[in-house]
Formats: sequence, structure tokens, C-alpha cells
Amino acid sequence: MKLLVTGGAGFIGSAFVRLLVGSPDPPRIVNLDKLTYAGNLENLQGVAEGAHYRFVHGDICDAALVDALVTDEKPDAIVHFAAESHVDRSIFSPSPAFETNLRGTFTLLEAARAHQVPRFVHISTDEVYGSLEPPLEADETFPLNPSSPYSASKAGSDLLARSYFTTYRVPVVITRASNNYGPCQFPEKLLPLMISNALEGQPLPVYGDGQQVRDWLYVEDHCRAIRAVLGKGREGEIYNIGGSRSLPNLEVVQKIVAATGAAESLIRYVEDRPGHDRRYALSSAKIMRETGWTPLTSFEDGLARTIDWYRRNAVWVERVKSGEYRSYYARNYDNRESELRGTGGARRVPKP
Ligand code: NAD
Ligand code: TYD
Repeated sequence: MKLLVTGGAGFIGSAFVRLLVGSPDPPRIVNLDKLTYAGNLENLQGVAEGAHYRFVHGDICDAALVDALVTDEKPDAIVHFAAESHVDRSIFSPSPAFETNLRGTFTLLEAARAHQVPRFVHISTDEVYGSLEPPLEADETFPLNPSSPYSASKAGSDLLARSYFTTYRVPVVITRASNNYGPCQFPEKLLPLMISNALEGQPLPVYGDGQQVRDWLYVEDHCRAIRAVLGKGREGEIYNIGGSRSLPNLEVVQKIVAATGAAESLIRYVEDRPGHDRRYALSSAKIMRETGWTPLTSFEDGLARTIDWYRRNAVWVERVKSGEYRSYYARNYDNRESELRGTGGARRVPKP
């Protein structure tokens, strides 16, 4: 078995590579990654170049490179993680999300079509369904209603992947997962940002009223689900992958405060994200029924393991929080803070 994995130096892609490389009968993996700010080869320490693994530094939008790679390697499957993956960044600068998420996916689908790659697993997201009023839960037939440039670009690439199955019979399988957390996640997303800030005694910026709801999925559970879909998913089908644990953001942050021993006074309500989706919710009944997959990690266990990883990897955190991260952080958070300062300073969070 040979896999072409894209974005394998990122958070979820690297967890997938580590899972497969550490499995009893590992496939050969070719990892194509551009190493953007979110790509980090330190996430793959211990994964040695050799018969089972090759790293290729490159862009999924580079059609000549992708075509040559598929020609040379003749993969049995492409597992496509590479993306610009952050909503806030896509709000500031939509262009990279549209280039990578749409053109990059198109480039890979074209190579899969030209070379008749036997399987194409497209990693999509529950954000394509948009915000759902309780008690609704999206199943795979639910209409797509994305809100942010990020989720719109993911919805576009998700539909493009489906169209390649419908039109050209490229054997596409799509997964739509909920919010992931775990080791090696870039500290722009909620959990790693709050955990690393809490460990450093820095403010914990909660957007709006903090009552937005997300479903939390431990990254290893997600990677096991992708492996299950790679093996057992039906061509042309979509599989939701949820953690079966919905929580409001403020409750997540309060759990992080309690688990790290940080001061609750670090929590700040800051100006809300434009177009902020209030609630994501999805049903994973189909993947459970068809593959037998189920999430194994409770949120409390996963959070404890994640906090432990960030405590033990302070050097990793320090490196990724330097350089470009500082200007991103200032751009995203300074204006929010100053608006609050203008109205009398950041409010403390009331006791629940
Ligand atoms: P990430 O931002 O941590 O990693 C993205 C990786 O893709 C990086 O290694 C980056 O260098 C690489 N990349 C970006 N542009 C590229 C390009 N043009 N060519 C080649 N490589 C490129 O992302 P993640 O959180 O690991 O997400 C992986 C996938 O899972 C994405 O498709 C994302 O939409 C999806 N997803 C993420 C979540 C989540 O909670 N993080 C949830 C559901 C779905
Ligand atoms: P995020 O991790 O960016 O994922 P997504 O927006 O793709 O679901 O954010 C998760 C939730 O946390 C979302 O409702 C926005 C909120 N959030 C904050 O309140 N403060 C923050 O600093 C960040 C990054 C996110």
C-alpha cells in the first residue's frame, strides 16, 4: 500500500502519519507539504526517511510537481489534508484559503483523474454545514451553508471532490470532522491558544459571550476514523466524524483554567469574530454503522493529555510562538483589546 498524504507536517496530517508509521504493517507514505507557518517537521520527529516514508517539500497548487509525484509514486490512495485551516486568518486574508483549498484540491483531483488513482480521501469539515440551531444535528445529507471564507473554501473543495466522483468516477470519499484538539496543534486555534497562554499566565481571549458551541474530537480518534474510511468507506460517500462531546467555549476555557491551575482572572471577553457560527453539531451514526469506528477518548482525558504535551514541549511552543505568530497575534487580538480598553477595560468573567 502506497499513500500520497498532503499536509502531513500539519497538526492532523502529522498525527495521521505517526499513527500509520507506528502501525504493525505500515504503508509507504509520501508526504507533500509546503511548510507554511502551520507546517512543522518537528511534528514528525522519529519518522525516518526510508522505504516507508518520503518527505516532499512543495505546493499542492503546483500541477507539474503533483503530476510528476503521482506518476513516479503511483499511490494507491491520496489522503488530502493540506489546507489553510484557520477561520480568523481567512477573515483577514481570504486569498491563501481560496488558492490552497480550492486550486490545490482541484490540482490533486486532476492528477487523480489523469492517473486513475484508486482512492481519494478528501478531508473536509463540519463547518461546511454552518451554524445549526439546537436541537438540530447535521447528517451527511444536510445542506451546506458555510459562513467564513475558510468554510466557504472548504465547502467549495468538498463539492468539487464530489463532482469528480459524479462526473469522472474518481473514487472520492469525503470526511467531515468536528473541531480537533491534541498534541502539535498550532496555537492559533482555541485549545492550544488557551492552554499555552494559561501555562504562560497570559490573558485568555474569549470571543463574544463564549456561549458558542463546538463538538470536540481528539486528534488520534479522528486519525483512526480516517484510516477506517480509507479502508472501508464507500466511493462517492461522505462520512461525518464527531467527538460526541459538545461544549460552549467558555466551559472549555474554564476547564483549561482548572486543569492548568491558571488564574480565572486571566479570562477576558473580547470583541466577537465577524460572522461567528454559534453552534456546530453533527451525527456520526453513518461512520459508526459502516466501519465500526467510535471515538475512544473522553474530553477530560484528551484535555489532560494535551495539556501535558504542551507542558512538556515548551520549546516547541516557544519556537512556533515567535516570528510570524507575534504579528498575527497582534493583528487579531490588539484591536479587540483596545476596543475594550476604550469602553473601560476588559471585563472579568462572572462566576458561572
Ligand atoms: P494545519 O493548519 O495544522 O496544517 C495544514 C498543513 O497543510 C500544514 O502542514 C501546511 O504546511 C500544509 N499546507 C498548507 N498549504 C499548503 C499547500 N498549498 N501545499 C502543500 N501543503 C500545504 O491544519 P490541520 O488542523 O491539521 O487540518 C488538516 C485538514 O483537516 C484541513 O483540510 C482542515 O480543513 C481539516 N479539518 C481540520 C479540523 C481542525 O479542527 N483542525 C477539523 C476538521 C477538518
Ligand atoms: P477555532 O479553534 O478557531 O475553531 P473554529 O472557529 O474553526 O471552530 O475556534 C473555536 C471556537 O473558539 C470558536 O467559536 C471561536 C472561539 N475562539 C475564542 O473564543 N477565542 C479565541 O482566541 C479563538 C482562537 C477562538
